[in-house]
Amino acid sequence: MSSDNVIVATNLSKAFPVYERPVHRLLQMFSSPSRKHIWYRKFEALKSISFEVARGETLGIVGRNGSGKSTLLQIICGTLGETFGSIAVRGRIAALLELGAGFNPEFTGRENVYLNGTVLGLTRAEVAERFERIVEFSEIGGFIDQPVKSYSSGMFVRLAFAVAINVTPDILVVDEALSVGDEAFQRKCFARIQQLRDSGVTVLFVSHSAGVVMQLCDRAILLDQGELLAIGAPKLVISRYHKLIYAPPYRQAELRREIQAECIGIGSDSIAMPGLGEEGNDGGRSAPADEQGLESFDPEMFPKSTVRYDAQGAEIVDARIETRGGARVNVLVQGKTYIYTYRVRFSRAAASIRCGMLIKTVTGLELGGGTTAGDHGSEISVEEGDVVCARFSFKCLLDAGTYFLNAGILGRLGEDEVYLDRLLDAAMFRVLPKPSRLATGFVDFEIGPKLIATGETE
Ligand SMILES: Nc1ncnc2c1ncn2[C@@H]1O[C@H](COP(=O)(O)OP(=O)(O)OP(=O)(O)O)[C@@H](O)[C@H]1O
Ligand SMILES: [Mg+2]
Repeated sequence: MSSDNVIVATNLSKAFPVYERPVHRLLQMFSSPSRKHIWYRKFEALKSISFEVARGETLGIVGRNGSGKSTLLQIICGTLGETFGSIAVRGRIAALLELGAGFNPEFTGRENVYLNGTVLGLTRAEVAERFERIVEFSEIGGFIDQPVKSYSSGMFVRLAFAVAINVTPDILVVDEALSVGDEAFQRKCFARIQQLRDSGVTVLFVSHSAGVVMQLCDRAILLDQGELLAIGAPKLVISRYHKLIYAPPYRQAELRREIQAECIGIGSDSIAMPGLGEEGNDGGRSAPADEQGLESFDPEMFPKSTVRYDAQGAEIVDARIETRGGARVNVLVQGKTYIYTYRVRFSRAAASIRCGMLIKTVTGLELGGGTTAGDHGSEISVEEGDVVCARFSFKCLLDAGTYFLNAGILGRLGEDEVYLDRLLDAAMFRVLPKPSRLATGFVDFEIGPKLIATGETE
C-alpha cells in the first residue's frame, strides 16, 4: 500500500447465500460435505470492486437502494468478510453504520458508550475522559442511563455519532446516519465532520443526497447492482447517478455500460459537466406535515452550532428575523420580504464600522449575504458603550429547507479593518414548501415552465 493510501480495495467481491425457503438453510447446515446438493443460490452484492482512498480524502459513495453501499462499508470496517479479492485498511476506523451496528439494545447509553469506545480502540480511562463531551454532543441528557432500546432512532444515532467522532479516528465511516435527527443536529454533525476532515481524518460517506456529496466530498464513487460504475469528481459521479436513476428501464443496461466505459479510469476533472441541480437541498428539507402556509415563530428551533470568534471590543446580541411588521419569525414563506436584525454593543471606540450577514445551507454552503456599507461607504464611528442595530431586509427566494445565518461586525482599530465580533450560525430559519412546488435546488427563481405542442412532426 502506498504511504498516501489508507484504504485499498482490490477486486473486492461479496456473495451472499440466498435461500428460497427458511428450511433450505437448515437443510444446507445439516447436509454432509460429501453430498453435492446446494440449497442456496449465490447473490453477488459486490462484483470485483477496485479503488483506493488517500489519507485525508473525503469519499462519497452513491447508488440506488441495494446497490451494495452498506455491504462495502461493512467490509471496509471488518464487520463483514469478503468472498474474493482483498481490502487493506490503515488506521483506526470509527464507523457509523446503519442503525443497530455496534450498540447493544439491552445496555444503557452509558454502558454502550464504554462498549463502543473500547471496541473502537480506546481504553476505559480514555472513554471516561471523553464521556462528558460525548453526552453533551449527543444531547441525550438524562436518557444516558436508560437502555438504548427505549431510545428513538434519532437519539440512537445522535449517541452513536457522538461516540464515533470523539474517538479521534483516522478513518470515519458514515452510512446515511445524518438523515436522522433534526436539522440543527445535522448542522452540528456536518460542522464536526468538516473539522475532522480539516484535521486530516479520512471520511467515507454514504448518502442519497447529491447536495451533501457535492459539498462534503473530494471524490465520489457510484455503485450499481454491486458494480463500480464511476469514480471521480463528485459532480461527474452525481451527474451519472442522476442520469441512471431517471433513465427509462429499457435504457438502463446500455447506460450502465456507457457510464462505466466513460468514467472508470478517467481523471477526476477531465470531463465537461452537464448542468446539475436536482436534489440540491434535500439535506435540510422540512417536512410538509406542519405546513400552514403562514410564517410563524417556533421557539424550539434555535441553532446548536453557534460559534463566536474572539471578540475585539464588540458583542453581537439578539440575532433574529422579523416580518416587516416587526413580528419575530423563524418559519418563513417563499416570496415575502423579511428583516434579519441584530444589535451590537461596543465596549471600546471603533471607526468605520460595518455589519455583515450571510445565509448558509445545513451543510455550510454559503448562499449569499451583504454588508451595511462598502469600503468607501458611510463612515460610522462609535464610542464605548454605544449600541447599534443592524437590519438587513431580504426577499425569501429560497426553496423549502432549513438555513443558517452568520453575523459579523467589522471596524477599524487603528489602520486595520478587523472583525470586532463574529457569530457563525447566529440564527436559523426554515422555509415552508409551496403547495404546488416546481422548483428544485436552493433558490426558487419562480421559473414559469411551459410545454408547447409545435404541430410539427419529425
Ligand atoms: N446478509 C445478506 N444476505 C443476503 N443478501 C444480502 C445481505 N446483506 C445484503 N444483501 C443484499 O445485498 C444487496 C446490497 O445490499 P446493501 O445493503 O449493501 O445495499 P445499499 O446500497 O446499502 O442499499 P440502501 O441504499 O437501501 O441502504 C441487496 O440486494 C441486499 O438485499
Ligand atoms: Mg445501505
